[in-house]
Amino acid sequence: MKSKPTLSSIEGTWRFNDNVAENFDKHVNQSIPHYKDIQQYVTALSEWFIKDNTLIYDLGCSTGETIKNICKLDVSTNFKIIGYDNSNKMISLAKKKLNLKKSSIKNGRIKIQLKSLDVLKIQKFKKSNLFISILLFPFLNLFERKKLIKNIYKSLSPGGGFIFVEKIRSKNSHFEDILNQMYFDFKLRKQLTEKQILTKSKSLRSSMHLFDQNTTQALLKQCKFKNFEVFYKCFNFIGYIAIK
Ligand SMILES: C[S@@+](CC[C@H](N)C(=O)[O-])C[C@H]1O[C@@H](n2cnc3c(N)ncnc32)[C@H](O)[C@@H]1O
Repeated sequence: MKSKPTLSSIEGTWRFNDNVAENFDKHVNQSIPHYKDIQQYVTALSEWFIKDNTLIYDLGCSTGETIKNICKLDVSTNFKIIGYDNSNKMISLAKKKLNLKKSSIKNGRIKIQLKSLDVLKIQKFKKSNLFISILLFPFLNLFERKKLIKNIYKSLSPGGGFIFVEKIRSKNSHFEDILNQMYFDFKLRKQLTEKQILTKSKSLRSSMHLFDQNTTQALLKQCKFKNFEVFYKCFNFIGYIAIK
């Protein structure tokens, strides 16, 4: 049986509003191919960058899934992880998931801080060894991405990592067509209805900014990241690891 629509808010322009936040964990698993695997790969990659007293940023942390997974890593060092999201509701759900009564706690070796904040308004991050951002970029235009990546590069320690996952356009229209249709088939298999798929697609027209791989890679180089590699790709979803 097909599931009932849970995201009434997808009528009109897509926003991460309270209704989307409340249904986010279910929705993201139905909408992103191999979402759990992506989480697992990003968490595993983090191990290369966590040293004693490392500061980690998760930009666009939503309900805190990545932070929860990183906190479960079997590493014996102290580290601090800061999650930012500009949705109050996402941050309050993340606090619930991570069992945080306040915005900031120290849980043994790990300090966690969560804040509702627009990452584009941050002038300067603290010195950090790892930035993570899963699927924030599709909601930033090229100018915003450039500003943010430059800021990330400046704050990273030499050898520090920037792990991000984004959605792209294919390099030519034939592949774009094939991969998008594969993606819609995936959503149907995940029990989303045709109407839900089309309504979401329409709602994203003015809120999602997608570019091809060449654009992302040129942007990384412009922002001084010369050393990067793809660690994941499925349809038009792609994960990069860049090292300063
Ligand atoms: C697709 S979700 C990210 C998913 C999440 N990283 C995960 O792994 O489950 C995008 C998130 O970015 C947040 N966001 C969008 N623009 C933002 C901005 N300028 N500053 C902070 N958060 C933003 C949204 O509220 C949303 O929670």
